[in-house]
Amino acid sequence: MSEIQESSYKVDSLIAQDIDAYLVKHQHKSLLRFITCGSVDDGKSTLIGRLLYDSKMIFEDQLAALEADSKKVGTQGQNIDFALLVDGLAAEREQGITIDVAYRFFATEKRKFIVADTPGHEQYTRNMVTGASTADLAVILIDARKGVLTQTRRHSYLAHLIGIRHIVLAVNKMDLIGYDQDKYDAIVAEYRKFAASIGIKQFTPMPISGYMGDNITTRSENTPWYTGVPLVEFLETVELDVTADQAKPFRLPVQWVNRPNLDFRGFAGQLASGVVKPGDEVRLLPSGKTSKITRIVSFDGDLDQAVAGQSVTLCFADEIDCSRGDVITPADAPVQVADQFEATIVWMSDEAMTPGRAYWIKLGTQTVSASFQAPKYQVNVNTLEHAAAKTLELNSIGVTTLITDRSIPFEPYEQNRELGGFIIIDKMTNATVGAGMLNFSLRRSQNVHWQPLDVSRETHANLKNQKPAVLWFTGFSGAGKSTIANLVEKRLVRMNRHTFLLDGDNVRHGLNKDLGFTEADRIENIRRVGEVAKLMTDAGLIVITAFISPFRSEREMVRKMMAPGEFIEIFIDTALVEAERRDVKGLYKKARSGELKNFTGIDSPYEAPEDPEIHINTAKMTPEQAADLIIERLIP
Ligand code: ADX
Repeated sequence: MSEIQESSYKVDSLIAQDIDAYLVKHQHKSLLRFITCGSVDDGKSTLIGRLLYDSKMIFEDQLAALEADSKKVGTQGQNIDFALLVDGLAAEREQGITIDVAYRFFATEKRKFIVADTPGHEQYTRNMVTGASTADLAVILIDARKGVLTQTRRHSYLAHLIGIRHIVLAVNKMDLIGYDQDKYDAIVAEYRKFAASIGIKQFTPMPISGYMGDNITTRSENTPWYTGVPLVEFLETVELDVTADQAKPFRLPVQWVNRPNLDFRGFAGQLASGVVKPGDEVRLLPSGKTSKITRIVSFDGDLDQAVAGQSVTLCFADEIDCSRGDVITPADAPVQVADQFEATIVWMSDEAMTPGRAYWIKLGTQTVSASFQAPKYQVNVNTLEHAAAKTLELNSIGVTTLITDRSIPFEPYEQNRELGGFIIIDKMTNATVGAGMLNFSLRRSQNVHWQPLDVSRETHANLKNQKPAVLWFTGFSGAGKSTIANLVEKRLVRMNRHTFLLDGDNVRHGLNKDLGFTEADRIENIRRVGEVAKLMTDAGLIVITAFISPFRSEREMVRKMMAPGEFIEIFIDTALVEAERRDVKGLYKKARSGELKNFTGIDSPYEAPEDPEIHINTAKMTPEQAADLIIERLIP
C-alpha cells in the first residue's frame, strides 16, 4: 500500500527546508513510523507539537512566530499552543478539523520518527487507513474527561485491521481531571474489554498531558502511581516491524530482472521478511521451481547475508524463468498460490465498487486483473456490526470474494503485510479506488485443474478452414444490432463459413435467465457471453454477438479474453432519439413512463466505444449496406 502513502505524502514546508541536513544527521538511527488517532479535540495536534518541540525539531524563527501566534489567540502563560504549529495549514485551521494525512519527522537521541497525523473526523476512514498502512505503532488518544468514545473504537478497529502491532492508549488531558488514578483505571478497564472483543491482544496504556508535558519525555511527578515509562521512551524502545519481520521466513517479491550483460543475471527486490544467505536452497513462486543462491549483490558489493528491508539482487545456480511479481522463498517454506480469496476491502472512491467488474490489483510487486463478488457483509465501523450490502461506498469496509485472472503467490495479510495487502486501481481512470487485505485463499480453485486436450483449437479451426473470430456488436436497444448481425451471419454462411449468433434477447431466455438489468447483472451477462464466445472460438467458430454491452470495462475484458486480433468490436451507432423514435418493442415508452427501470439510455448509462474496429452509422445506410460493409472489412 505504499503507493497511496506516496501520493498523499506531504511534508510541512517549515520542516522541508532542513530535511536533507536532517536525514544526513540521523541516518544511522532506526526509524519508527507511527500514527496518532483521536477525535477533533482530543489534543492530538498539541501532542504532536509537543513531541516536535521537545525533540528540538522546531527552528528558532518558527518558534518566535509560534509564540506570537499563541499570544494572538490568547494562550495563557508560558505554554505555547502546539496545536497551532501542527495545524499550520490555513485552510485546515479554518475548517477546525485536520483533513488528509500529514507526515511529520522528528528525532531523539536514540531513534528517528515519522508520524502520520490522521484526522478524527468520521468520513476519513480512507485517510486513516492510508496513514496506518506502513505504521509500526498507533497512539490512540483519549480525552480523560470523556473516556472511550465511538471514535476510539473506530480507530482501534482500523489500526488492528491494518495490522498495527503496537497500540498505545494515551489517556490525555490528565491535568484536567486532577491526575485522578481511579478515573484513569476505569478508562483503561473499559478499553481493555473493548480491545479484547475485537481481537487486540495487547496495548500499552499511559496517563499523559500533551499540553502540560506529563509523561511525555520524563515520568511525571503528578502521576506517582504510574509505573510505566513515558511516551517518548516507549517510542524509542518499542520493537520495530523490520526487526520482527526478520524472524519470519524469507520472502523476496521480484521487482525486476537485472541482466546488464550475458554473463550476469540476477533478481532484484526488497526482502519483505526473513534472512537469506548464499548457498540457501530457494523456491520460486508461482512456478514452484527450485535453485540455490550463489551471490547476493548490493550497492556495497557482495553480501554474506541480506535481511528484511534490504534491497538486493539475488543470483541463482540454475537458469530458471523468473519475472516481476514472482516471489522467492526458502525451498522448504514457500508461500501459497491461489486465484480466489476472501478479502477485506476498504473502499476509497466516490464511485462505489462494482461487483463483477475487472480492476487492477497491485499486490507486492505484481499487478493482476481481478474482480470482486458482491460483499458478504459490510462492517459498520462505529458499532462494528455486520450489515448486508450489495456494494461498497466511499469509506466503507466489507468482506468479499476476490477472483484474480491468474494464480498469484501471496500470504494472508495477518502474516505478511507486503504479500497480503493490495491496492485496487480502476482500469479506466487509473485512480486508486480502494485497498484490501487477503484473509485466506478459497480452496475451490486449487482442486480444479486444466485438463490437457489432444484436439487443439488449431485443429478445430483448420478442419473448418477458417480463422476463428468474435464479431462483437454493441449499441443501444433498438439500434439494429440483431438485424445487422443476422444479415452478416447469412452472408458468412453463404460463403461456407461456420458461424454462431449469440443474441441478447435469446441468451436471456436460457443461460442468463437469472439475470436482470442492474449494473451487476449486465456485467455478469457480458462475462458469461464472453466465456461462451471464447469456448466457441476454441471450437473454431466465427461467433457473432448482439448485446447492448453498455460498459467499456466489460467489452475490454472480453477483448482480453480472446486471442490477439480475434475480437472485432462493431459499434452500431444509432442515436438514442432515433432508437426511441422507432421503439420496435415499445420498451422506450415503458421506460419513459417509469414502468421499466434501468433502461439503457434512459436511466442506465451507455458508454460508446472509443476506438471500435468497425463503426456503423445507421443514419447513413440501410441494414443491408451495413452488412455488406462489415463483410468487406472482414474479408477484403
Ligand atoms: S446488456 O445490457 O446486458 O448487454 P442485453 O443486450 O443482454 O443487455 O439485453 C438487452 C435487451 O433486453 C434489449 O434489447 C431489450 O429488448 C431487453 N430489455 C429489457 N429490459 C431492459 C432494460 N432495462 N434495459 C435494456 N434492455 C432491456
